[in-house]
Amino acid sequence: MTNAFSPEMRRNPYPLYQQIRSSSPLLYDPELDMFSVFDYEGVKMVLTHPEIFSSGQPSGGTFDEMLISQNPPRHTKLRALVSPAFTPRLVSSLHARIDRLARDLLDRVPTRGEMDLVEDFAMPLPMTVIAEMLGVPEVDRPQFKDWTEVTVNMSAIVTGGDAAIRAMRELTRVKDEMRRYFHAMLAARRAESERRDDVIGSLLEAEVEGERLTDAQIFDFFHLLLAAGSETTTNLIGNTLLCLLENPDQFELLQSKPNLLPNAIEEVLRYRSPAQIVFRWTARDVEVHGQMIPAGKTVLVMIGSANRDPKQFDEPERFDITRRANQHIAFGHSNHFCLGASLTRLEAKIGLTVLFERACDIELAGTEPWQPVTAFHMYGPATLPIRFTARAD
Ligand code: HEM
Repeated sequence: MTNAFSPEMRRNPYPLYQQIRSSSPLLYDPELDMFSVFDYEGVKMVLTHPEIFSSGQPSGGTFDEMLISQNPPRHTKLRALVSPAFTPRLVSSLHARIDRLARDLLDRVPTRGEMDLVEDFAMPLPMTVIAEMLGVPEVDRPQFKDWTEVTVNMSAIVTGGDAAIRAMRELTRVKDEMRRYFHAMLAARRAESERRDDVIGSLLEAEVEGERLTDAQIFDFFHLLLAAGSETTTNLIGNTLLCLLENPDQFELLQSKPNLLPNAIEEVLRYRSPAQIVFRWTARDVEVHGQMIPAGKTVLVMIGSANRDPKQFDEPERFDITRRANQHIAFGHSNHFCLGASLTRLEAKIGLTVLFERACDIELAGTEPWQPVTAFHMYGPATLPIRFTARAD
């Protein structure tokens, strides 16, 4: 089972997923003492029952106070505080700004037609959007990449060993840096005469059960949004390019019918899900697919595998940008359903539209296989050098 997380497997985990799903969709790893659910029905069932499959670690975890680790009723209250920043209406008001950012990023790419799609475009675009939503000025943003990567790499803790110790040490460093930064930022904002109309501005005024949020609670939102809001979207854009370059017939179809782009993005979310795994912990003994999972166990919820389940999708191994019945669960399901789903869809749609306007004849530069991102629960290329013919704006 540990092999499922080796770098080679992570480039293409799908044959292994298929093999496990077709023998027994619930797998127990005695070495790590963990269960994994691989089929669509099982994954959906786990995500629908927070009273059995808790989002918080029973022994306490690093992200205990964050929204993502809470269960109802506390989860419901905290989520209500931050949801207003992500309504479809508010998100669509960011259209012009995202378009401008995408064009500015491509203006910096040399016209000779070479770039690292991830480094030069797919990473800075969502990172700038979330930084602006959080009210962080441009000069402070270079630290963001480090903070985000270290936070996302915390999934290493689940597998234990040296990687877990390193991840924990790095997170302590980054959290100290972030806290210092955040408290200075809050102090500066409190000294301002007018409230700013951004996410931090509304959290400063929000109340739960009649009480204002503490600075520590606002910090947890800041940290979560920063971590959740960038690398996932970066992977979505990188994975879209991988899918289209591997399937030239689909790329041609998209070029001839650009209005298929939103549907193509949904297919990428299904076919190469940027978040492959989410975590739950059993609150009591529970039977899944005829096997008993005792209370207190870690359960890996294999979203990436569920999205290729033939019981749910016709020809799941085919990348088809015209797919109609596509009830993928790339954004999770039920109470923790991704808050940033509309935002990331918009970022990917605008980003890719601008990219395909400005770059044609795109191909991979170099012959090395692409390198997967470090965090084992995420999926996408860490770098993606491409060549293309540049077109003027
Ligand atoms: C392709 C891009 C994205 C993917 C695939 C993705 C995926 C997910 C998934 C699977 C969950 C559920 C976690 C769970 O059930 O434990 C989730 C939750 C969340 N996502 Fe995303 N996400 C993406 C982009 C974003 C963006 C852009 C933001 C914000 C700017 C964001 C913010 C959040 C937040 C705050 C939660 C926690 C919601 C809660 O606990 O109630 N995500 N995301």
